[in-house]
Amino acid sequence: MRTSEFTNEPVITWDDNGAPRSVRFDDKYFCQENGYDEAIYVCCNLNALEARFKALPVESPGTFTIVETGFGTGLDFCCARQVWEANAPPSWIMHFISLERYPLSAEQLGRALGHWTQLAQFANELAAAYIPKATGSQDLFFKDGHVHLTIIFDDVIAALEKILQDRLAGAGADALFLDGFAPSKNPAMWTPEVFRLLAALSRPGTTLSTFTVAGFVRRGLEAQGFSLIKKPGHGKKSELLTGIFSDRKS
Ligand SMILES: C[S@@+](CC[C@H](N)C(=O)[O-])C[C@H]1O[C@@H](n2cnc3c(N)ncnc32)[C@H](O)[C@@H]1O
Repeated sequence: MRTSEFTNEPVITWDDNGAPRSVRFDDKYFCQENGYDEAIYVCCNLNALEARFKALPVESPGTFTIVETGFGTGLDFCCARQVWEANAPPSWIMHFISLERYPLSAEQLGRALGHWTQLAQFANELAAAYIPKATGSQDLFFKDGHVHLTIIFDDVIAALEKILQDRLAGAGADALFLDGFAPSKNPAMWTPEVFRLLAALSRPGTTLSTFTVAGFVRRGLEAQGFSLIKKPGHGKKSELLTGIFSDRKS
């Protein structure tokens, strides 16, 4: 099996329960027992998405923007879409912007998402439309254009710079999902430059959530203007991190 640094093949294995695991990073994409519940809790509940979607003003439609680091299987996207379609006014658009340097194939993505019967419709639509690339990006539109997914196939720094340069997140993202494998296994997704770019993509009120509570991640985000608090974890994780951008650097 090749694990060369010079390829962007994801290099995965499948565990006994059929969940994908990265060989390159020796880490899992999601927890095979309760990955769906965990994604709903960490990405959606910790960012208070249901309440925020419900509060969007019907009379003045706009776009709610989520930026994610690490598209992986698309589980977080499908969960966000599910919560969006159940709660947001139909006139609004959700723009979900994600990035991925080591994209799964469409077959791998479909197989991984096949785990979650709760998401079957969204997973099937995603797997049918998703075309992974070595570089560049893909824009996918679902629900008559009211769900817009942008995937940038690049390294985290270059992808965040592109989101900034092309103003893909408009005046600032509404929510950030940070999901780039454990910092101990993949420090490249958790550098001061990544935190600086995330802050540049934020505005006062932008929320974030992540699976990690690593001290250097917390301090790095706080140094860029995020106020963070630890929250009780889910499943095997005892604690998680959530935060809000306030524009006041420590
Ligand atoms: C934990 S997985 C993300 C899981 C995903 N959010 C989901 O819903 O399935 C982390 C992802 O980050 C990607 N990744 C790792 N290092 C990266 C880098 N330097 N730049 C961009 N993506 C990277 C991995 O290929 C992997 O897909």
